[in-house]
Amino acid sequence: MKEFSLTIKNEKQLGVLAKKIAKSLKPGEVIGLTGGLGAGKTTFVRHLVKALAPKKNIVVQSPTFGLIHQYATRPPIAHFDLYRLPEKAVMETLETTGFRDFLDGKWLVLMEWSDRLPQESALLDAEIHFEFTAAEQSRRVVGWVKGR
Ligand SMILES: Nc1ncnc2c1ncn2[C@@H]1O[C@H](COP(=O)(O)OP(=O)(O)OP(=O)(O)O)[C@@H](O)[C@H]1O
Ligand SMILES: [Mg+2]
Repeated sequence: MKEFSLTIKNEKQLGVLAKKIAKSLKPGEVIGLTGGLGAGKTTFVRHLVKALAPKKNIVVQSPTFGLIHQYATRPPIAHFDLYRLPEKAVMETLETTGFRDFLDGKWLVLMEWSDRLPQESALLDAEIHFEFTAAEQSRRVVGWVKGR
C-alpha cells in the first residue's frame, strides 16, 4: 500500500480523499485510524461509508460507547472504537465482543484508536493518521502508514 501525507483544508476535500481511498480498500482488510480527540477519524468513516454506499444515507456515529457499528455498504463495514477499552485488556475485550467474526474476509474493518492495539496483535493492514494543525489554519494532515 502506498504511503502518503497531505493537507486537507475542509470536509469537502476529506470526502474526495475518502472516495479515492475507498477504491483501494478490499474486503478482509483491517484499517486502523489514529489521531487525537476530534482529529477527524469518525468523520473520515462517515465519508468512506458514503463513498461505498452513495445512495443509502447511512448514519455514522462514533462507536465509542457501543464499541462496534455495522454498515450495509459494499463491502460491509465494521466500525470499531478502542478508546474506552481498558488499556491492558484491549485484545481480551475485543475477543469477548466477538470481533473475530468480522475477520472472515467479507468485512472491511475500520478501527478508531488502533494505536491502542498491542503491537504483537498484527491485525492491521494499514493505518491512517489524522492531525489537526492549528498552525496551518485548521488544516488536517492525513498520512497513510504501511501496516505489517
Ligand atoms: N477535514 C475536516 N474538515 C473540517 N472539519 C472536520 C474535518 N474532520 C473532522 N471535522 C470536524 O471535527 C469534529 C471532530 O471530528 P471527529 O468526530 O471525526 O473526530 P474523531 O477523531 O473521531 O474524535 P474521537 O477521538 O473523539 O473519536 C467534528 O465536528 C467534525 O465535523
Ligand atoms: Mg471518533
